[in-house]
Amino acid sequence: MKKLYNPFIETGYINPTYFCDRENEAHQLIDYIHNQTNVTLFAFRRLGKTGLIKHVFYQLKKEKNIVCIYVDVFDTTNKIDFINRLATSIYNAFPVKSSLGKKIITAIQSLRPVISFDELTGMPNISLDSSLAVHQQNTLTSLFSFIDNQNIQVVFAIDEFQQILSYPEKNIEASLRTHIQALKNTSFIFCGSDQTKMHQIFNDAKRPFFASCSYMHLNTIEEKKYSKFITKMFRKYDKNIAPDAVKFICDWTMLHTFYTQKFSKEIFVGSEQNISLKNIKIIAAKLLQTQEGKFYQYRSLLTAQQWQLLKAVAKEGRLTQPNSQNFISKYKVGNASAVRKGLDSLQKKEMILHNIGVEKPYYEVYDKFLMHWLQSK
Ligand SMILES: Nc1ncnc2c1ncn2[C@@H]1O[C@H](COP(=O)(O)OP(=O)(O)OP(=O)(O)O)[C@@H](O)[C@H]1O
Ligand SMILES: [Mg+2]
Repeated sequence: MKKLYNPFIETGYINPTYFCDRENEAHQLIDYIHNQTNVTLFAFRRLGKTGLIKHVFYQLKKEKNIVCIYVDVFDTTNKIDFINRLATSIYNAFPVKSSLGKKIITAIQSLRPVISFDELTGMPNISLDSSLAVHQQNTLTSLFSFIDNQNIQVVFAIDEFQQILSYPEKNIEASLRTHIQALKNTSFIFCGSDQTKMHQIFNDAKRPFFASCSYMHLNTIEEKKYSKFITKMFRKYDKNIAPDAVKFICDWTMLHTFYTQKFSKEIFVGSEQNISLKNIKIIAAKLLQTQEGKFYQYRSLLTAQQWQLLKAVAKEGRLTQPNSQNFISKYKVGNASAVRKGLDSLQKKEMILHNIGVEKPYYEVYDKFLMHWLQSK
């Protein structure tokens, strides 16, 4: 297997070598898949939802009787886009030369597709003639029922699923739910980066997807496991990192996966063979400096009060008592009602997260680099 130039990836998935832990979560997800249970994956942004799905699908490659189809609907804007993305993912999931692959191609061709090829990847893109509403319904039915009738188990992971809320067609949730319920050999994993909208789809008793899936929550990776992984990755490239430096990486990024990966990646780039705590503190400062432009942009998108409140949350690290007189007067953030409103809008803008799944709920700045930068102001 090709050795990566830098073992810390910050986009996508390569293979298990570069993936840290998630053993229990992968196990649980594989169990759901084997049992054909539909599941929704919840986690704060950039904690590794997409990574986990790719990791699980990688492991399931060896199970010949399960076909895993990953569909990212992030840049779809309507139902036709959604159907075309689905058809393209199905088309690309089966080897062209296999007998099933041939059947799939014939089936999709019967829907009169226009097939083009992606300029960058060379992969086919399917565009189905489904401009009329009645065609759309038929096309979705044909795609799903065709797949479901092949005597194989299929699992679809639909990523960035909250996107369906922005489609002009209002019936998409109900129509998808109806299709999904009718399938016997097909199950789904739903996941998305916008947690507010994902909760809207799955946790609102008045909406079609309510109580339709099992829930899975992803937390941060255990510090012991992440430390071991970081040390091992450096060792693999003949670099020695001091234990207190590894501890600093975990603490400084609060084990928020994307930030832990990004910081480790920068350390890998900017370090010699022996890496000390002093070395990485310098790299941390440089990293904040390079991001300063982005941080000032954030500031221009917020009101002065919101910015003040964000700074206050950053300085607390984890804010557990936003209504306390102590917090309010320490940071001069108005009164309890202004704080509540401010936290609400910062949360909507995904500048802060609110963790209510723990004994002592808390607010925390999402972007860990922004958090440190604000702390220094
Ligand atoms: N277990 C892991 N080990 C190493 N790197 C990981 C792991 N999980 C995720 N990553 C990396 O962390 C980054 C963020 O992960 P990912 O994109 O999967 O998060 P996400 O929860 O899907 O984010 P979003 O909410 O924005 O969709 C990615 O670059 C990914 O490669
Ligand atoms: Mg994702």
